[in-house]
Amino acid sequence: MTERTPGFATLAVHAGSQPDPTTGARATPIYQTTSFVFEDADHAASLFALQTFGNIYTRIGNPTNAVLEERVAALEGGTAGLAVASGHAAQAVVMHTLMTPGDELVASKKLYGGSINQFNHAFRNFGWRVAWADPDDIDSFERAITPKTKAIFVESIANPGGIITDIEGVANVARRARVPFIVDNTLATPYLCRPIEYGADVVVHSLTKFLGGHGNSMGGLIVDAGTFNWSREGRYPMLSEPRPEYHGVAMHETFGTFAFAMACRMLSLRDLGPALSPFNAFLILTGIETLPLRMQRHCDNAAAVAAWLAGHDKVAWVSYPGLPGDRYHSLAKKYVPKGAGAVFTFGLKGGYDAGVKLVSNVRLFSHLANIGDTRSLIIHPASTTHRQLSDAQKAQAGAGPDVVRLSIGIEEPEDIIADLEQALAAT
Ligand SMILES: Cc1ncc(COP(=O)(O)O)c(C=O)c1O
Repeated sequence: MTERTPGFATLAVHAGSQPDPTTGARATPIYQTTSFVFEDADHAASLFALQTFGNIYTRIGNPTNAVLEERVAALEGGTAGLAVASGHAAQAVVMHTLMTPGDELVASKKLYGGSINQFNHAFRNFGWRVAWADPDDIDSFERAITPKTKAIFVESIANPGGIITDIEGVANVARRARVPFIVDNTLATPYLCRPIEYGADVVVHSLTKFLGGHGNSMGGLIVDAGTFNWSREGRYPMLSEPRPEYHGVAMHETFGTFAFAMACRMLSLRDLGPALSPFNAFLILTGIETLPLRMQRHCDNAAAVAAWLAGHDKVAWVSYPGLPGDRYHSLAKKYVPKGAGAVFTFGLKGGYDAGVKLVSNVRLFSHLANIGDTRSLIIHPASTTHRQLSDAQKAQAGAGPDVVRLSIGIEEPEDIIADLEQALAAT
């Protein structure tokens, strides 16, 4: 009998895990320990020389986190994964592995606002410059490339505007420029879209959102596609050169198709330190077991809510790529055919005051700054996350006075709509 390749839902439950060899525990145990005892001095020496794989210290690796790493890498179709403390930590660790002072990153200007801040400010302190490109104009990525460009970064479904990126189009630009293509797949999750199939070399996640899915744990993950040739031009010294900070090991030569994940772990996570708590890894793993069920429900509910809002007389516009008339509908059909995610924005005819009234009157929705929870969430960016910006900056960021962002949960769709209906009536 030929060996079957497990399907997505099977991988979501099983990838990376097996009954605990010592106790028989069926759920992945929480290895809540900082460090691991060596068998003897030779074993310790070979672990430190990277000649043997094994556990040393939880900042570098932990058995609970390892199951999470293997599971998300399997769901994305990558060669290896690395778990870190948050989505932002994943981005910082990836860039630290790729960039040296003076290097440049080309990024889509339609990104989560926190990522725009991280790239514009925190990364500038490391001497890394970001050039912004427009996901609606693929040539703008090409125009932004210089000899110093070391990576291209986009979000598959961009937060918060319901923008679908032409992943394949940007991947072709990256391939021509011979730079790795990094896709933040947080809003889509691998259930809706697997960017590696369209040419991504690295996928990053905020596990804090739909992958964990229950609004209880921060986490981040880096998936190595194993596709990029790090040694071709010697432009990525952390990967191609013998590393003085790691006993002269050259990562690409030693680890081949999972060199990037190893370099992120052994050179960046080890030295920068944003390790994931094993307890969080356990909660996120439990969440991932139901990812296909939850994600489909999130999408179906979001499609119903978006269609209902589009017909409401107090609503000026709805930006949801799942709606047939939406400008990203054809890209959504290609990249996220099972559903266009559950995060989207809409505009209120009543402007700023109506936005404030709406978030003050919801009962089922939670008014807070997060997405990707089982619960339905709402925020009015102009009075919260974006309130310090000028009106022009708010408009540029897609956070004008009338804009409301929703993250639709997995409750009964009729209850979600009823809550919006009564809250809209109060505006
Ligand atoms: C698309 C996207 N990427 C990255 C992040 C950052 O993730 P974290 O909050 O886990 O650091 C977020 C957070 O909202 C996000 O929405």
